[in-house]
Amino acid sequence: MLARVYSCAVIGLDGVIVEVEADTRQGLPKTVVVGLPDAAVQESKERVQSAIKNSGLTFPRKHVTVNLAPASVRKAGPVYDLPIALGILLATGQIPPQSLEGSLVLGELSLDGAVRHVRGVLPMAALAREQGIQRLFVPEADAAEAALIPGLEILPVSSLEMLYRHLIDQDKITPFVAEPAEQVTYQEIFTDLGEIKGQEQVKRALEVASAGSHNMLMVGPPGAGKTLLARSMPGILPMLSVDEALDVTRIYSVSDQLPESRPLIRTRPFRAPHHTISNAGLVGGGNWPQPGEISLAHMGVLFLDEMVEFAPRVLEVLRQPLEDKIVTISRAQGSMTFPANFQLIGAMNPCPCGYYGDTVRACTCSSSTITRYQKRLSGPLLDRIDIHVEVPRVDYEKLSNDRLGESSEKVRARVEAAREIQRQRFGSGRVRYNANMGVADVRKYCALTDEGRSLIKSATTQMQLTARAYHRVLKLARTIADLAGSEQIAPTHLAEALQYRARTQVLQ
Ligand SMILES: Nc1ncnc2c1ncn2[C@@H]1O[C@H](COP(=O)(O)OP(=O)(O)O)[C@@H](O)[C@H]1O
Ligand SMILES: [Mg+2]
Repeated sequence: MLARVYSCAVIGLDGVIVEVEADTRQGLPKTVVVGLPDAAVQESKERVQSAIKNSGLTFPRKHVTVNLAPASVRKAGPVYDLPIALGILLATGQIPPQSLEGSLVLGELSLDGAVRHVRGVLPMAALAREQGIQRLFVPEADAAEAALIPGLEILPVSSLEMLYRHLIDQDKITPFVAEPAEQVTYQEIFTDLGEIKGQEQVKRALEVASAGSHNMLMVGPPGAGKTLLARSMPGILPMLSVDEALDVTRIYSVSDQLPESRPLIRTRPFRAPHHTISNAGLVGGGNWPQPGEISLAHMGVLFLDEMVEFAPRVLEVLRQPLEDKIVTISRAQGSMTFPANFQLIGAMNPCPCGYYGDTVRACTCSSSTITRYQKRLSGPLLDRIDIHVEVPRVDYEKLSNDRLGESSEKVRARVEAAREIQRQRFGSGRVRYNANMGVADVRKYCALTDEGRSLIKSATTQMQLTARAYHRVLKLARTIADLAGSEQIAPTHLAEALQYRARTQVLQ
């Protein structure tokens, strides 16, 4: 008898319906899985057989064929264990024929029949909803994640036996009801800006960068507080909106990095990969492409500490996504696109010994080593960094002062206000923040006064700004004006933006 159960695959970040067909016929007892299954799916025969037996059910002593359709989609991972098991139970008449109608089934099986967590439940649930499926059987651990998509009946399954009893109407499973979202507090995770002494101009730069999602590079001697300042950033970034949160959560779901306790990611990601990271780790890749750090930093921050230590080749691959806000990975089977609208924050020492330009300690590097060191960041990459700040050492008086600076919460309120202006300006289109503006948006939203125009004219020649840098300065000035609540970009706003850019030009 032929039986059919619906399950789901994930391609890139999207779900695709997979039909699991099971058929039994007389012959030598053997199970064959066809339909482009990978190694993990092949192994599922063994798990399914043990799980069925250990749940007190019967595995047929017949020839069993399992087909995963459409055959053109490669099936990866153990997510089909549970649907395959149900297909076999249906085909052998152990569960009623209509019992899985309108349902989608996901879950890995362990040998004793327990149902285990699978990755990518959020995009699969989203697809189910799109396709008009009413009911979703998911591993108990993933129920909260599936419930992020409203309008579906989510049935949490902890074992094959439990699901069997539900389907034969013996013990019904209670549908999952989501608890109201818990409040996320910032303080538990990050250093408060108020605890960081001095560095007012760096904090201001961080505020501007956060307000418009601009890229920033900090340069300063060891121990000046660069890492500390960067790590305080999540505390001044506004929460994700619900739409943004779902976009971000989908990426984490597919990469299997969702914390179990918090299915919906509400705070902006802050990713700080080590400088030994590979190309694929950073931008995404693998045989079966997975999102890299730049996609995990989508809508948030990618922090590259000790930026010159990253392999030049690895840094250069950032150029395209920094511009396009997406990354495309090409494979023989076709190409795959992941979102990567992140904000780059870099930190570095000014020279190999670290003390070039320091007011206290003398630098021991020769000028040629300094140049070589700084040249490790290429011109095209630096051109994409809008804010360049020096982080000088803090003197003893400031460090030993017990007075706290302005708290992250206060700064965040200003950042939020500036982002609200941007939300109203751009709506919910592709452009979300000032840094994302295209040429036409710049013309529309970054008009200057006469004085501003003559200022940027002389700066463009003096600083030899590229066309890209010119536009980036205008976008940055727009953010500074937004922070000040000013509709017009005043010359002072432009001057501050130019001053952040000026230091970048020196490095090149
Ligand atoms: N401005 C500051 N206020 C308070 N503590 C600081 C400050 N700057 C540095 N520190 C202290 O010095 C440590 C090292 O700072 P860090 O950010 O790692 O320096 P860097 O990355 O510039 O080498 C911090 O963990 C912190 O304890
Ligand atoms: Mg550091």
